[in-house]
Amino acid sequence: MKTATYSAPSNIAFIKYWGATDLDRVLPSNPSISMTLSECRSQTTVRFEPGVRAPDEIFLFDSRDQPVPLTEPFRRGIERHLAAARQRYGIEGCFHIATRNNFPAQAGLASSASGFAALAAGINEAADLGLDPAGLSDLARISGSGSASRSVFGGFVEWPASAEATSARRIAPADYWALSDVIAIVESGGKEVSSRQGHRRAAASPHFARRQELLPQRLATVRSAISNRDLETLGPILEEEAIELHLVAMSSHPPIFYWKPATLTVLEAVRRLRSDGVSAWATMDAGANVHVLCATTSEREVATALSRVPGVLQVLPDRIGTGPRRHEEAVGTAP
Ligand code: PMV
Repeated sequence: MKTATYSAPSNIAFIKYWGATDLDRVLPSNPSISMTLSECRSQTTVRFEPGVRAPDEIFLFDSRDQPVPLTEPFRRGIERHLAAARQRYGIEGCFHIATRNNFPAQAGLASSASGFAALAAGINEAADLGLDPAGLSDLARISGSGSASRSVFGGFVEWPASAEATSARRIAPADYWALSDVIAIVESGGKEVSSRQGHRRAAASPHFARRQELLPQRLATVRSAISNRDLETLGPILEEEAIELHLVAMSSHPPIFYWKPATLTVLEAVRRLRSDGVSAWATMDAGANVHVLCATTSEREVATALSRVPGVLQVLPDRIGTGPRRHEEAVGTAP
């Protein structure tokens, strides 16, 4: 029997994964590029008993390490991941999984990227898979959450859209550029429509095909903006990408509305920050919350401004981070 505990961070996409050529094999329609976060993390303990034929056990804890009930979609997500890992790597034995998020539960922040990256890192060690970071990225991805493939490297990461090269790769390390992601929470519950549903419906939008045409140029600009540490070039593309993801979602069949009224109020506040001379740029995932990217030197000013916006429930300042970490203390053992 072997036990391993890892934490892994969430990530925020600059170029979004939205739509798949093969959702079951988690093959995206387009490459995506993200920044790994530092503070928003999931921590997971994996205990593996080789050769034992018994049902897997899954436990969820809150940020203070107190047990909380599992929801069905959460349990199914982990079971799907374990089944995919067993099939891919021929694993025989039973898993005992204990996991928690260190960011506030119910904050409406996507935790699947951090959760599946931490789970993959734990499985890799506990089941002696010996995977390198590219292999780990692939293992995180087969959970069904493609964005998890981008949470295992740290820094800036690109996930290609290729059936041959399914792992993401790092394009610049975390210490390359001091960027912050100040997250304005405007919705505290989970989203009504999963991103899996969003990927499934995306191609039905009349804007989807046009988006695919625009992406090669946009990807090239983002790569070069990262390489030149050029926020003034990156920023407008961040906003275009976020708007386009939601445009596609809102024009899918049936349509998906993730925004809340306060989402627009925050977007307005970000434009006001810019007209006051602060280089701050908004992006959003499949939810109502707004991620505001800025130089780390502006983080405090941006956080203060966002905390004053009506409808903002909480502000979480985060930064670029270095990826998964190994821990000695198991999840669920705090007194
Ligand atoms: O990884 P998934 O299947 O949860 O999809 C992620 C979708 C977005 O967060 C909206 C975009 C992205 O690339 O992270």
